[in-house]
Amino acid sequence: MKNYTSINDIQEIKTWIEEAKEIKANPLANIELGKNKTLGLLFFNSSLRTRLSTQKAALNLGMDPIVMNVSGDAWGIEFGDGTVMNGNTAEHIKEAAAVVSQYCDVIAVRAFPSLTDKEKDESEQVLSSFVKFASVPIISMESATGHPLQGLTDAITISENATKKKPKVVLSWAPHIKALPHAVANSFTQAMQKMDVEFVIANPKGYNLSKEITKDIKIYHNQEEAFKDADFVYTKNWSSYDDYGKVLNTDPNWMITKEKLNGAKFMHCLPVRRNVVVEDAVLDSDSSLVIEQANNRTFAAQIVLKKILENL
Ligand code: CP
Repeated sequence: MKNYTSINDIQEIKTWIEEAKEIKANPLANIELGKNKTLGLLFFNSSLRTRLSTQKAALNLGMDPIVMNVSGDAWGIEFGDGTVMNGNTAEHIKEAAAVVSQYCDVIAVRAFPSLTDKEKDESEQVLSSFVKFASVPIISMESATGHPLQGLTDAITISENATKKKPKVVLSWAPHIKALPHAVANSFTQAMQKMDVEFVIANPKGYNLSKEITKDIKIYHNQEEAFKDADFVYTKNWSSYDDYGKVLNTDPNWMITKEKLNGAKFMHCLPVRRNVVVEDAVLDSDSSLVIEQANNRTFAAQIVLKKILENL
């Protein structure tokens, strides 16, 4: 595998999950694999889990991670082709990506969408420019349309916690005060399509994700109906896809409560707004898998880095 920019880069998710579990049982088993190799982590946006777990994964493989907050600390990067650079941008991505490739053996990039220009966001300008102009492998640490490290993490966590062969998994929209990206929901949906699970989505009208992502998955506009017999409820807010980037609904009746879960395990990628997205009683209970998910971020990143290092 050269790059990891999408859940679709996973050839066989079952094998990856089993390998990730082995890594989790013995995280330092491949500490020689990344010796003298550098991982560059470039952040255009904030992060807690991705920033720390990806570095931890690199350290477990013997790599040296170096981190940069690109927005603010680096020169403003120009992505347009043929632009007369007489504005705020001082360095073109052609040089920037090539230069970072001189210092790093693998580059990981986080760049969120604008949520104002669907076409531009879907072109994945930042991520695809790094893929194009860097001379080393690229990992997405969340792009405009996907968060494949999170999606792989969530698949690992479900596999570890499933108590039946084919569990029912629900992806449920929940309210939020701000417009949020579709990336986590997209990658989770793609990951579930590769798993042996019964998977459905619950969201209010006007919040269907891209049809390219959901394909023929059943979408409920009634949360209670969707949650019937659920084993896992994965919760995330996202802004409208059709009315792109808009907040159409903040109905608190969509917040996740212990009563609604009715014994199902609760999952969320974090960070989460308590008592807006989910009530305290869920997060503070044994039903919540959110800390296990955060822990598994390391092992998802580690399996991805391992596969890339083995291919260098
Ligand atoms: N889940 C996740 O990606 O967390 P951060 O935004 O803190 O990295």
